[in-house]
Amino acid sequence: MIEARDLSKRYGEVVAVDGVSFSVDRGEVVGFLGPNGAGKTTTMRMLTGFLPPTDGSAEIAGHDIFDDALAARRAIGYLPETPPLYPEMTVSSYVTFVARIKDVPRRARAEAVDRALERCALADVRSRVIGTLSKGFRQRVGLAQAIVHSPPVLILDEPTVGLDPIQIGEIRGLIAELAAGEGDDRHTIILSSHILAEVEAICRRVILINEGRKTVDASIDELTRDGKTLEGLFAQETARDTVAADSAAGGGGAS
Ligand SMILES: Nc1ncnc2c1ncn2[C@@H]1O[C@H](COP(=O)(O)OP(=O)(O)O)[C@@H](O)[C@H]1O
Ligand SMILES: [Mg+2]
Repeated sequence: MIEARDLSKRYGEVVAVDGVSFSVDRGEVVGFLGPNGAGKTTTMRMLTGFLPPTDGSAEIAGHDIFDDALAARRAIGYLPETPPLYPEMTVSSYVTFVARIKDVPRRARAEAVDRALERCALADVRSRVIGTLSKGFRQRVGLAQAIVHSPPVLILDEPTVGLDPIQIGEIRGLIAELAAGEGDDRHTIILSSHILAEVEAICRRVILINEGRKTVDASIDELTRDGKTLEGLFAQETARDTVAADSAAGGGGAS
């Protein structure tokens, strides 16, 4: 469903992403784990077509991100690090607006919006102005805009960053439901996080990224066999970045 081949991104002298390849099957929920600055956001932005890679290519649902860019983009729902919400719009008018941009046919639009609001538990606040909502609710609006066109693939960049523990629990629950849907409601998901507990809570598989390179790609079951812990692995793989490893391990309390 997602195929990344040797993706690289350089900013002048800085190599943000260095030859990252992986493949994600339909229905998988994969965690992109790595300390701040590892290259997670850059990789995700390349997959979504927002950022041209310096090298390499990718396919989303069989569509090349260059040769078939429109179809590739349509197949993706993207929650950026900072969702582009319009604070003065109401929840339902904003999600309707996104549905129109994403080419949801006019006839199907109202139903698609209702469905997205319902799935993100936003039905009760649909007429509220986005700017008056709590951060947790705004993040749900971010998820609703990502799913409104029923994309098979969801790319979620640090979906719980800045939320309080209760909101974090709610958003994680919501993501788990998005992964568990049936038919058009079933999504293949990549989510990024610098928090180990987050990835452990939601994902079955981890891709560890450090200094622009993929260093681990395995199921959590595999990685925690023989009494090994993800904490130990993360600390070992990011040893040069001990501050980030410490804060990532400390993030476990939020789950
Ligand atoms: N627009 C940019 N210009 C220059 N450097 C950038 C830019 N965007 C990201 N970087 C650098 O690329 C690296 C990876 O960043 P990023 O992908 O945001 O990491 P992450 O999301 O894992 O925290 C960092 O060193 C960052 O400073
Ligand atoms: Mg990032």
